[in-house]
Amino acid sequence: MKENRTVTLDLKNGQPPIELPVMSGTLGTPVIDVRALAQHGYFTFDPGFTATASCASSITYIDGEAGLLYHRGYPIEQLAYESDFMEVSYLLLYGELPTAQQKVDFEQAITHHGMLHDQVVTVFRGFRRDAHPMAVMIGVTGALSSFYPDAHDVFDPRSREISAHRLIAKVPSIAAWAYKYNIGEPFIYPQNRMAYAENFLHMLHATPCEPYEVKPVLARALDRIFILHADHEQNASTSTVRLAGSSGATPFACVAAGMASLWGPLHGGANEAVLKMLEEIDDVKNIPAVIQRAKDKADRFRLMGFGHRIYKNFDPRAKVMRETCHEVLDALDLMDDPQFKIAMELERIALQDDYFIAKKLYPNVDFYSGIVLRALGIPSSMFTVLFALARTAGWVAQWNEMLTDPAHRIGRPRQQYTGPTRRDYVPMTKRGA
Ligand code: CMC
Repeated sequence: MKENRTVTLDLKNGQPPIELPVMSGTLGTPVIDVRALAQHGYFTFDPGFTATASCASSITYIDGEAGLLYHRGYPIEQLAYESDFMEVSYLLLYGELPTAQQKVDFEQAITHHGMLHDQVVTVFRGFRRDAHPMAVMIGVTGALSSFYPDAHDVFDPRSREISAHRLIAKVPSIAAWAYKYNIGEPFIYPQNRMAYAENFLHMLHATPCEPYEVKPVLARALDRIFILHADHEQNASTSTVRLAGSSGATPFACVAAGMASLWGPLHGGANEAVLKMLEEIDDVKNIPAVIQRAKDKADRFRLMGFGHRIYKNFDPRAKVMRETCHEVLDALDLMDDPQFKIAMELERIALQDDYFIAKKLYPNVDFYSGIVLRALGIPSSMFTVLFALARTAGWVAQWNEMLTDPAHRIGRPRQQYTGPTRRDYVPMTKRGA
């Protein structure tokens, strides 16, 4: 929405000052519309996009100072405790909570798209057995583009809807099969009678040899973890999906690109890194030395699971995750888990440390998620895969929103060139030794 005020930019270059409109959304920081700058021969410079809104979006709102996260206006805590992942996926995609019938229809659509084309098995078999499951996840999700040529028509709303359903439905199967392939067990097919998280745990842990019952408490905990990871506005992976999709590329390739961006340890790879760090700490007596390392500028080590680009307060997802961690460990009689104890003590010490206080570094969603996931019997190499699985709901919602935005154009950032100025080609014989 355009406000009645403008920002005047006087470049003192003899030209008249430039008037830049100020725009506000329904919540949050106003933005200065700098698009006119290019006509005046200037670009803005913002590496890492710390002060740049790349789009307008009505899906997710974050207030990092207050530690708030809303999806379509609903606080994450309410969704985590009162909703379920299918409902949150519907909310992200369609903008409103579903009616009872809409929920049934949506779940039916997702459930009936869970199976992978039989030829996909061959794609899996092309990977090394010891490939990281994220590598498999990215490869197989991208390969789905070849199975659904109808998905190329990204400006057809129904085609986009089917692609969104297919992606949300099939990522659990791809994720579980990436693990099964890794450990050399047969692939387990999705079960239409099971709910989303239950079905995933079944595909992950069952074998064809005997019936496997998923404990409801574990399925509920995993469903909550999926909710907590479902969307987080314009982070690196979501911006990657949008940028890839802005050219009109097929959604399977765009989501595979998002997964690639998510894989890094500063983003979705952090939960795996947290558990590795807790294992290495080994004993609470080693915590002060680790805190010291994290504060040392000469050391690249960082306290994994701490800090966030946006949250300068508690990540609201971390609070829910900590409670979920308590619930799961309690239900499984694992309250003496040594890594949980190290995590709680590490959090206590870091939150009292001047360095972490001054830089507003608080635990993020990944700090406790690894401990919960491990208690659910999920190996650490699968942690980022689970993040990708849940975030697929957000990615497809953001991709869909972008393509319906009247302001949509191909994404094309500019740069400040710092290379050599024009020079003439030097033949090899004249280049010296
Ligand atoms: N341990 C120690 N120091 C830190 C940490 C940390 N975890 N995080 C930030 N800092 C320091 C950093 O060294 C910098 O110090 P200085 O101002 O002296 O240069 C200052 O705090 C600001 O950090 P930054 O790297 O400029 O902040 P950023 O917004 O670019 O990075 C971050 C955010 C999440 C990448 C970073 O906090 C980090 O590396 N955390 C550890 C990895 C992690 O837990 N990632 C998961 C993020 S939540 C899941 C998701 O949404 O992907």
